[in-house]
Amino acid sequence: MPLDVTEIERLYAYPTTDRPWVRSNFVATIDGAAHGADGVSGTLGGDVDHQVFGVLRALADVVLVGAGTARDEGYGPADVPIAVVSRRLDVPEQLLVPGTLVVTTADAPADRLDELRSAVDVIALGQGAIDWPAVLDALADRGLVRVLCEGGPSLHGELVGHDLVDEVCLTVAPVLASGSAPRIAHATVAVDRPMTLGHAIASDDVLLTRWVRARA
Ligand SMILES: NC(=O)c1ccc[n+]([C@@H]2O[C@H](COP(=O)([O-])OP(=O)(O)OC[C@H]3O[C@@H](n4cnc5c(N)ncnc54)[C@H](OP(=O)(O)O)[C@@H]3O)[C@@H](O)[C@H]2O)c1
Repeated sequence: MPLDVTEIERLYAYPTTDRPWVRSNFVATIDGAAHGADGVSGTLGGDVDHQVFGVLRALADVVLVGAGTARDEGYGPADVPIAVVSRRLDVPEQLLVPGTLVVTTADAPADRLDELRSAVDVIALGQGAIDWPAVLDALADRGLVRVLCEGGPSLHGELVGHDLVDEVCLTVAPVLASGSAPRIAHATVAVDRPMTLGHAIASDDVLLTRWVRARA
């Protein structure tokens, strides 16, 4: 049964904040797989997850997404600006339109950087690796403080590693998967970040949860 949109907007309202707030939104199977057997995640959570996905986008100032996810899930322009994160600057053609941002390192391939700069807003910060605090400041300078990270696991793992994720919205899909799919945060270095439960709502067989970073 569809949820009441006003109620979802109330439950997922961003906190009032004078600094960038990074919310991530993922769907996972019961056993923690970040994609189904078809290699994508969009089909896992059904209508309720799609509904929340839409509301979260509507509440955000900018969607931050890894180029891998943008390529795999066929991202295109949306009502909210999309900031694509890429080291190689392999950004899907359909995203090369005004309103798109590209986030990369300062030492990304220079020719491609120039090419992209003629089409989209490029934030190139950090040598060798993206300087995430500086990127969040650059987004805030553009008035984009309500950040919605839609993954994928590699990008999310990096943000968790830097302890920059303030909130995780996780839909648990009624699917038991097995296999080798990644978790929703993947990195070579393991960290634990304590979180508090914002809410857990069961809608039919789908569990919608929201977790907030427990900061001192
Ligand atoms: N369950 C969910 O809710 C959910 C959400 C999103 C995605 N997914 C699934 O996750 C899978 C993709 O996983 P993934 O981990 O490969 O996705 P990803 O993080 O979106 O993509 C990895 C690519 O994004 C770029 N990237 C990510 N972090 C970067 C960083 N810190 N610096 C520079 N570039 C960075 C790089 O692009 P370049 O190669 O262009 O340099 C990298 O190769 C897909 O199957 C997708 O369906 C699931």
